[in-house]
Amino acid sequence: MTEVATWVRVAAAKDIPPGEMLAIEAGGRKVAVFHLDDGSWHAIDNLCTHAYALLTDGWLEGAEIECPLHAGRFDVRTGKALCAPVDEDVATYAVRLDGAEVLLGLPT
Ligand code: FES
Repeated sequence: MTEVATWVRVAAAKDIPPGEMLAIEAGGRKVAVFHLDDGSWHAIDNLCTHAYALLTDGWLEGAEIECPLHAGRFDVRTGKALCAPVDEDVATYAVRLDGAEVLLGLPT
């Protein structure tokens, strides 16, 4: 995760219940925001590194997101590519709550 330059409000926390995700656009980037069942919040690039697919069109299982196109999987906590055909990690972003709002940390 790179250093945060700007925090931007991207959603109301109530709009992303535990076990859910949300596609957002911020700073010209397509980003997927996740609220895991353990209560933690995470964000990664929403574009698969294999071909053009939005990861939020796929399936979230625990901390893993499965791409809808060829079933590649990423760990949403680290952005790590977990299985073929993906072999390149996705970028991660900082996420924090400010009261009832979800803030995304955009890098420099
Ligand atoms: S586009 Fe995501 S696995 Fe191929």
